[in-house]
Amino acid sequence: MTTVITFGTFDVFHVGHLRILQRARSLGDQLIVGVSSDQLNFKKKGRNPVYSESERLEIIRAIGCVQDVFLEESLELKADYIKQFNANILVMGDDWQGKFDDLETICKVVYLERTPAISTTEVIEKIRY
Ligand code: CTP
Repeated sequence: MTTVITFGTFDVFHVGHLRILQRARSLGDQLIVGVSSDQLNFKKKGRNPVYSESERLEIIRAIGCVQDVFLEESLELKADYIKQFNANILVMGDDWQGKFDDLETICKVVYLERTPAISTTEVIEKIRY
């Protein structure tokens, strides 16, 4: 059984989010997703997410290729989460290229190409103007 784990905010869910989850799942037998907490998102991006952490967890949990979700409380805890879920592969978008190579000691680390021309920030901007 190969377990894949990935992390993200997944705010204002869009097709880029869907595609990375589908591609991550295709690398193994089950996909576990760490959804960034509201507090962590504020620290990372300097703004509160549009959808609350409980709404984002609910949405990601309902995606067909996702087997389990949990709240990611800190960026520094990735190794602990990987061990906790016995994950064999960590998937990150290539906006993080190279940043998690030190975790190769506990699992395989794969960076997947982002879907071009879409992001939560862009969707918010599009709706705003
Ligand atoms: N992602 C992707 N393609 C996109 C946007 C996001 O593959 N076009 C991936 C990211 O690489 C990450 C996951 O989706 O692995 C969650 O990304 P997140 O930061 O929540 O989404 P963004 O749309 O990048 O959000 P923002 O604009 O707020 O940075």
